[in-house]
Amino acid sequence: MAKSKTVFLCQNCGVESPKWIGKCPSCHEWNTYVEEKIHKDTFRQRVKTTFASQAQKLSEVSISEGKRIPTYSKEINRILGGGIVPGSVSLIGGEPGIGKSTIALQLALNFKNLRTLYVSGEESNQQIKLRSERLGLTNEHCYFLNETSLENVYLQIDKIEPDLLILDSIQTLYTDYLESSPGSVSQVRECAANLLRYAKETSTPMIIIGHINKEGNLAGPKVLEHIVDTVLQFEGDQNHMFRILRVVKNRFGATSELAIFEMGSSGLVEVQNPSELLISQTDEQLSGVAICATIDGIRPFMIESQSLVSSAVYGTPQRSSTGFDLRRLSMLLAVLEKRAGFRLAAKDVFMNIAGGIKVTDPGIDLGIISAILSSNLDIPIDKNICFAGEVGLSGEIRAVNRIDNRIREAEKLGFKKIFIAKHNRKGVDLSKFNIQFGFVNRVEKLVRELFG
Ligand code: TYD
Ligand code: MG
Repeated sequence: MAKSKTVFLCQNCGVESPKWIGKCPSCHEWNTYVEEKIHKDTFRQRVKTTFASQAQKLSEVSISEGKRIPTYSKEINRILGGGIVPGSVSLIGGEPGIGKSTIALQLALNFKNLRTLYVSGEESNQQIKLRSERLGLTNEHCYFLNETSLENVYLQIDKIEPDLLILDSIQTLYTDYLESSPGSVSQVRECAANLLRYAKETSTPMIIIGHINKEGNLAGPKVLEHIVDTVLQFEGDQNHMFRILRVVKNRFGATSELAIFEMGSSGLVEVQNPSELLISQTDEQLSGVAICATIDGIRPFMIESQSLVSSAVYGTPQRSSTGFDLRRLSMLLAVLEKRAGFRLAAKDVFMNIAGGIKVTDPGIDLGIISAILSSNLDIPIDKNICFAGEVGLSGEIRAVNRIDNRIREAEKLGFKKIFIAKHNRKGVDLSKFNIQFGFVNRVEKLVRELFG
């Protein structure tokens, strides 16, 4: 007979406490503890009874290579490392409305000879049908189920025996085994662990959709990320068309891969060449615009940084930045003030990264200061020039990682010249590139080279 006890669980990080506490000692969040009843014979004991696997030596383990299931999308296959691994559990996280259900439905409906079961606790079958009509897709091997009880989901699984299972979302699922409400830490953890076990036992791959809380973490427990094999995060600004699908964790491939999608009127369309879209295609030469060669994870692309410097109307000048860290902008302005003699303290500075992309790569510093200087002087930068370099506090230009990838991307897009840090010359064979180089070691040198 299973014993149950009452504990208090932090709904943010899943830490347990025997009594209620106001502030979580682990994640420092306030008011996150909720009383939940849990059975004493949780996961570990029940696993004992279901699994009876044997210990093996590595030499005894056979790997069935190349058994990945390719999806319809080349980009998704690429970021997953070739396709979906049988028996793997992938988690897709993201803010509401970003397109999680859309991508899951597109995946499901595009599998031509795979029996899929799409379980939704959020949308009715009619709604899903409407969405599929919008996507212009249909598939006779796809089954849809509106259900929130894990036990009932298993009943349908037994009946349909799907080759792929999609669950939208883990926060709406609950198991009768626990008394706490759906979406609570113990429910999410229990359901996920249970599904994982099913996936491993039967080699059925699963895609689980998870919500994101207001801090941008996967909602509820961080534990979910530990349980699953692959974590994909959907990012992007709802006001912009781009959506970035980023691999945060991957037991079967490289992390820091990403794919870019565009939300159109009939679903998400993959963007094969993001650089071309992120750079505005005008022929005019505008001041305050500089193109930076950046890297996100391991993927290089070119982005356009735009700056507007104008006289401050009020006493305190304004600094505003979209897509770039405001504190880093302040630092770069201070460097320009001190090292290049620009009196920016009496000016308003607005910074924007085009396309709604957020960039954290310090390699775009060089482009950012060039854009600011260009706007300040009202002299446009030649459209065929781009930048890759980090700026240090004393005005030195520092080398950046993966410089050859950045240069290759710039070359591919037809740029004639790239400014890079002098130190980046080391260790890279620059003669193989068909592009001019501008080597800079200090901010002053950049100013001289660009604006004479
Ligand atoms: P959805 O996939 O339901 O997001 P999530 O499951 O992450 O909450 O919704 C995506 C949004 O995109 C929604 O606001 C409607 C919109 N959309 C389109 O613009 N085009 C389309 O073809 C579809 C299906 C949705
Ligand atoms: Mg949804």
